[in-house]
Amino acid sequence: MLLHILLVASCIASSCAIWPQPLNQSKGTDVRWLDPAVKTTLHCNGAIALLYSHDSSEYQFTGLIHELSKISQVFFGHFQIFTGNKSRHETPNSLSESFLLQAAARETIAQIHRSGFVPWKMHKRHSAFEPDAHAPRQYVSAVQIHQMKCPDSHDFAPVSFFDGDESYELTITNETATIKSNHTIGSLRALQTLQQAFFAHSTLSGSYMPDLPLHIVDRPRWRHRGLSIDIARNPFRPEDLIRTLDAMAMTKLNRLHIHATDSQSWPLDIPSLPKLASKGAYQPNLIWTVNDLSEIQAHGVMKGISVFVEIDMPGHTASIAHSYPDLIAAFNELDWSTFAAEPLSGQLKLNSSAVNEFVSTVLLDLLPRTRPYTSLYHIGGDEVNLQAYLLDETVSSDDPHVLQPLLQKFVDRLINITIQQGLRPIIWEEMLLDWNLTLSSAVDKENTPSTLVQVWRDSQRIEEVLKRGHRVIFGDYKHWYLDCGYGIFLDPYPMGKSPHGVPFNTSGGIPSKLHVPYLDYCAPFHNWRHMYMYDPVANISSDLVDGVEGGEVLLWSEQTDSMDLDSKLWPRVAAAAEVLWAGVRNDTMLEDAARRLGEWRERAVTDLGVRMSPVQMTWCLQERGCNL
Ligand SMILES: *[C@@H]1O[C@H](CO)[C@@H](O)[C@H](O)[C@H]1NC(C)=O
Ligand SMILES: *[C@@H]1O[C@H](CO)[C@@H](O)[C@H](O)[C@H]1NC(C)=O
Ligand SMILES: *[C@@H]1O[C@H](CO)[C@@H](O)[C@H](O)[C@H]1NC(C)=O
Ligand SMILES: *[C@@H]1O[C@H](CO)[C@@H](O)[C@H](O)[C@H]1NC(C)=O
Ligand SMILES: *[C@@H]1O[C@H](CO)[C@@H](O)[C@H](O)[C@H]1NC(C)=O
Ligand SMILES: *[C@@H]1O[C@H](CO)[C@@H](O)[C@H](O)[C@H]1NC(C)=O
Ligand SMILES: *[C@@H]1O[C@H](CO)[C@@H](O)[C@H](O)[C@H]1NC(C)=O
Ligand SMILES: *[C@@H]1O[C@H](CO)[C@@H](O)[C@H](O)[C@H]1NC(C)=O
Ligand SMILES: *[C@@H]1O[C@H](CO)[C@@H](O)[C@H](O)[C@H]1NC(C)=O
Ligand SMILES: *[C@@H]1O[C@H](CO)[C@@H](O)[C@H](O)[C@H]1NC(C)=O
Repeated sequence: MLLHILLVASCIASSCAIWPQPLNQSKGTDVRWLDPAVKTTLHCNGAIALLYSHDSSEYQFTGLIHELSKISQVFFGHFQIFTGNKSRHETPNSLSESFLLQAAARETIAQIHRSGFVPWKMHKRHSAFEPDAHAPRQYVSAVQIHQMKCPDSHDFAPVSFFDGDESYELTITNETATIKSNHTIGSLRALQTLQQAFFAHSTLSGSYMPDLPLHIVDRPRWRHRGLSIDIARNPFRPEDLIRTLDAMAMTKLNRLHIHATDSQSWPLDIPSLPKLASKGAYQPNLIWTVNDLSEIQAHGVMKGISVFVEIDMPGHTASIAHSYPDLIAAFNELDWSTFAAEPLSGQLKLNSSAVNEFVSTVLLDLLPRTRPYTSLYHIGGDEVNLQAYLLDETVSSDDPHVLQPLLQKFVDRLINITIQQGLRPIIWEEMLLDWNLTLSSAVDKENTPSTLVQVWRDSQRIEEVLKRGHRVIFGDYKHWYLDCGYGIFLDPYPMGKSPHGVPFNTSGGIPSKLHVPYLDYCAPFHNWRHMYMYDPVANISSDLVDGVEGGEVLLWSEQTDSMDLDSKLWPRVAAAAEVLWAGVRNDTMLEDAARRLGEWRERAVTDLGVRMSPVQMTWCLQERGCNL
């Protein structure tokens, strides 16, 4: 009896392998296998519906409907039967919360059954850690989802879905796994946890969990838990983001920020301005179509991830000049560093009605297409260059006092369109903190889509934004930039001197700033422990902390494309995801984190095929850590 109580005690610093770490958990040591005939049911409003059972496999719709009516007379009026169509693309019409939940339940069970993750690395060398595959088996044969509010079976509404309560309780005792949640998004998070409770047996004769009874109480620390990926500096494929979404879901991240365009390329098709992508993409076959984007967004919704787009403006826009040269000032100047933070230079003109018209056309084309899947849009606004406006004949000035009112109007217009389109704007910190713009916190009658400010510099900036009354997204370059430490991508000038006669600054002959060992501006490389120890609210006064909406870990892609994306992201993004879900970490947690992240990594490479470095030597994992 005493032994039993000890074993069931809360697991503190070891062997609760769920990633990200739940708020509270306890577990036992009994083994149960997942019943091949497990039934998943939904319980809400006094009704029960069958979400999934083994005999309702892909093409047996009638069987499922029959079963449904047998189990409950009162199943949901418009409850959509999951058709099992493997096709990724879901039109907005076919999305509903009930559909999502059913698909997630089905996918979770299928994934546990097909998992090949045998956790031998987490146990002593050659030890017998698995249950006897030939002994009589006890099964978990029911997954019951008790959701306070029934999932909506009508039109999918991004705001109510993504802003729903993500908290859940998961209890696995005897033959039943019970999920308690308030909203569909909470049930999705619970299913993501359930998947991690099971392991494949090396005989491939089934999946088991070794920790019965298991009890988990969980909820996230922050609402916005994001990853930002730049798909413009180098070529990427839509599949790259689909694969990334699957791995993100395994870490309970819930926002994918696509930095979709930049000065180097414009891969995103805008059908009302077809030349933009046909001339702006690196290659015609590297255009991201309307369908590509909606497939990615729909895939995100299925995983509980809001996928939103950023078209950075007015800086970072040189690629527009390939199709609309008259809209861009200081395009591709030889002396690029005077006009931009990296080659090539080029910026939207600031006082031009043609630019205003262009911007409206882009947004009124794009935003209505993203809105079915997300409530966010990122309007950009970073690194606006003053000198570029000297070469902009609509202003011909680099005086901030001349430019500021024009920039204010430019940003007002972006924010207005975004809000009119029913989306909440996000903007980079410079517009507020360097340019002192007033960011409309417009509150419409139903909601408060006030502008979120994304900070990439330091925690003083976070505090400053909060003081000015805006909600903040953190993720500074000294902690959460994934591209740091790979070395600078620029070459020193030939002969160590810049070419003579550069058109803007004719002094010429400037010595190169680049020297051995050619470090980048944000070196060194931010290893996962460094990212894990990032405390975004360390220097924020406590009365302001509630204004923090969440954070993003970011990848700029000057030296990344499809080939190395996974290994640049993982496992470090998972480390950031645990900070975002479980809250600020401290160094006493590092040893346990190394083990759990090590296990998460094994599961992810086995089940998702995402390629990434090991967290430690296998020897360290087997010995439960290597310390100094
Ligand atoms: C977490 O578990 C501990 C011990 O089991 C308990 O005292 C505490 O109230 C729990 N906290 C939450 C938030 O459930
Ligand atoms: C699956 O989707 C494809 C394309 O959307 C369609 O052609 C096919 O008929 C669907 N299959 C089933 C079984 O619904
Ligand atoms: C559901 O909502 C209630 C009331 O707000 C809250 O106490 C509870 O923690 C929430 N989550 C779950 C899983 O019940
Ligand atoms: C679950 O099994 C335990 C023995 O392992 C038993 O004591 C308990 O009553 C069972 N609970 C239920 C709800 O069947
Ligand atoms: C902006 O353009 C208008 C004409 O289109 C001009 O009258 C005005 O002076 C310009 N503003 C600045 C600051 O150059
Ligand atoms: C933006 O909207 C506000 C409020 O609706 C309005 O007062 C303002 O003139 C608009 N600004 C622009 C640039 O459209
Ligand atoms: C914005 O305000 C700060 C001081 O709060 C000042 O240093 C800066 O020059 C201002 N920027 C502009 C563009 O007015
Ligand atoms: C908080 O302030 C301390 C002391 O200035 C600094 O060392 C630390 O880096 C800051 N933390 C963050 C996250 O900015
Ligand atoms: C031109 O370059 C020289 C040498 O680096 C520098 O001293 C000068 O300030 C530059 N002039 C302008 C207008 O940027
Ligand atoms: C680290 O966090 C744990 C759990 O919140 C806490 O018990 C411990 O005191 C913290 N340690 C330090 C050094 O802050």
